[in-house]
Amino acid sequence: MRYAALLVWASCIPVMGWCADSPKNIPPGSDASIERAVDSILARLTLEQKVGQLVQYTSSWNDSLTGPGERRADILERIEAGTIGSILNASGARLTRELQDIAVKQSRTGIPLLFGLDVIHGYRTMFPVPLAEAASWDPSAVERSAHVSAIEAAAAGIHWTFAPMVDIALDPRWGRIVEGSGEDPHLGAVMAAARVRGFQTHNLRSPSTLLACPKHFAAYGGAEGGRDYNTVDVSERTLRDLYLPPFKAALDAGALSTMSSFNEIAGVPSTGNRWLLTDLLRKEWGFTGMVVSDWNSIGELVKHGVAETLAEAARMGITAGTDMDMEADAYWLHLPELVKSGAVPSAVLDEAVRRVLRTKFRIGLFDDPYRWTSTATERSLLLHPDHLAAARDVARKSIVLLKNHGQLLPLRKDLPRLAVIGPLADSDDDPLGPWSAKGRREDVVTLREGIQRAVSPATIVEYARGCSIDTVGTDGFPAALALARTADAVILALGEDRDMSGEAACRSTLDLPGSQQALLEAVVQTGKPVVLVLMNGRPLSIPWADEHTPAILEGWFLGVQAGNALADVLFGDYNPSGKLPVTFPRTAGQVPIYYNHKNTGRPGDADDHWTSKYLDLPLTPLYPFGYGLSYTSFRYDDIRLSRNSMTREDTLRVTVRLSNTGKRFGEEVVQMYIRDNVGSVTRPIMELKGFHKVGLEAGDSRDVEFVITQDCLKFTDHAMQYRVEPGTFTVMIGPHSAQVQSRIFTLQ
Ligand code: GLC
Repeated sequence: MRYAALLVWASCIPVMGWCADSPKNIPPGSDASIERAVDSILARLTLEQKVGQLVQYTSSWNDSLTGPGERRADILERIEAGTIGSILNASGARLTRELQDIAVKQSRTGIPLLFGLDVIHGYRTMFPVPLAEAASWDPSAVERSAHVSAIEAAAAGIHWTFAPMVDIALDPRWGRIVEGSGEDPHLGAVMAAARVRGFQTHNLRSPSTLLACPKHFAAYGGAEGGRDYNTVDVSERTLRDLYLPPFKAALDAGALSTMSSFNEIAGVPSTGNRWLLTDLLRKEWGFTGMVVSDWNSIGELVKHGVAETLAEAARMGITAGTDMDMEADAYWLHLPELVKSGAVPSAVLDEAVRRVLRTKFRIGLFDDPYRWTSTATERSLLLHPDHLAAARDVARKSIVLLKNHGQLLPLRKDLPRLAVIGPLADSDDDPLGPWSAKGRREDVVTLREGIQRAVSPATIVEYARGCSIDTVGTDGFPAALALARTADAVILALGEDRDMSGEAACRSTLDLPGSQQALLEAVVQTGKPVVLVLMNGRPLSIPWADEHTPAILEGWFLGVQAGNALADVLFGDYNPSGKLPVTFPRTAGQVPIYYNHKNTGRPGDADDHWTSKYLDLPLTPLYPFGYGLSYTSFRYDDIRLSRNSMTREDTLRVTVRLSNTGKRFGEEVVQMYIRDNVGSVTRPIMELKGFHKVGLEAGDSRDVEFVITQDCLKFTDHAMQYRVEPGTFTVMIGPHSAQVQSRIFTLQ
């Protein structure tokens, strides 16, 4: 009977001195009841108040600038006037309740505000950055991470997260690769849906939910040169088959909003792109939610050179299908006049306002504008022990073992002396990663602390920074090398700081910054056993380390439980199971390099001059997509097909027997790739179409089965139709994209 409250609200609380009639014959709880309530409100709003619902400003309180510009001084007056629809970056039960009080009880419209925040990988309990979580290949762990983030953020008065970020990224120089799930549309789609389920659950009216907002729609990750905000020029086919699947999966999982991106796509900026935001998103996909612009992306239509003035930008945005204006002020300043002059039909304005009001109804804001937030609830939930346990669990699942020569890892917990060296070993700030919402450095377990907690009391753990992250200098080397020389093993933590990835944080190289490479070489040259732990927001080019360092862990930015999770893996309390969600190039000069590439007419061949390759590099990346080692070993028996030929109506089962041939329990991500051998257009040499993360005790075996349907084989064909074509296909199964066994089957 949820809408009963809503309709009581709509009919009894004076809104600008009017009362909507509570419908007699429409059952509460139906969309029809929401539509009727929306129409009732809309009919009573002035033009300025309608436009106000499409306006989103950043908070004037706390650290609220997540884009260029200034805080406004008139926020309170505008809330009282009922001419703001949403505020971002205001958080905390106290502040949000105070602002909501003004909106609901004092303003002329009484319409609740929508509070938004970038809850990307946690609110106060910070989880691993999304690229790290993708490396877990564990959608249920990722869903839990998002749900815990929602529990905490909702308790703090947040209704809407600008997440999940689902941009496919093929260029690791792009700083925002850290916020997504890597290079693959299938893995990206699985993670996008998991995060939407975690944020929204099945009931957006529950107190522990957030409205999800898959972003940045669309193809933002295709920026030329990996430079943020740069030009994206991709074909419609690449857009549909590479960049859009994670968005479709997120919206199919129920996300009720999305965010238009800064970039252009082949000449048309997304925020003013009617084909993208209306023809495809709403008409083709049937999306009924709302679209918010990115920060000032409406205003930036002028800089893009497709709008002469801010007024023209406002007209472009609203008619393209961008409902809410984040921080450009284009709609507030110009929509009223545009509507009065007829340049923007009032029906277009009304439809955008309806979408915003409908969304507020759907998330229960009219049932309870405070959505149960309270300082007491907030205090009881933030950093809850269960949340910390969930953070530790997904963090250790996100760690990727890249090398373990001579089984150096796991280390013994009772080594007499351990040297912990490097600028990231004792950092309590960098493990938070970019977009750390309300995460605090004092909440972080550093690597050094995690190690200290894990080893025996008799073990002497000594720390030396060695060098800084990004400045060149070797003053700290002597002290670090002295520790290394007297230690039984060295744990060396190197990488990037948290500000070297994320928005507007692109790098022209993928090398270890500063003098870290020199420190690495000096420490290795002591001859002591060295474990390199990387902390980074993007693939790094570490060919020297790969050749000379016995053990390497990819530790990303793992959040508040970083030190405990890394120690769990370093000392064997957890057997690493992560797999790379993105290719690691040998050098930036290899970029773009990704696994699901086309064959070309002259596929690379080191022994054939006239083929696609570099003269000065091998054809292969440093580490391939899907790669990751274990402390145990697995055997893949020959794959078996249930049939060699199938029709569109059939399913084809592919089975492989997996055995744990090592001495301890381990989890393996069995991956299935498919190649369409001949198509009406060129097709990738392989595409991930399924995976199973399987846990096996030592000595155990298990059949792992994949089911192929025609949906696995569809693509955007030469006529731009999404369909399957008959012919032969190659199915590949293995532990990563560069190690597979293949079988051929035919689709009739
Ligand atoms: C930023 C980002 C976007 C974020 C928004 C609000 O510019 O591009 O991802 O959600 O502004 O902070």
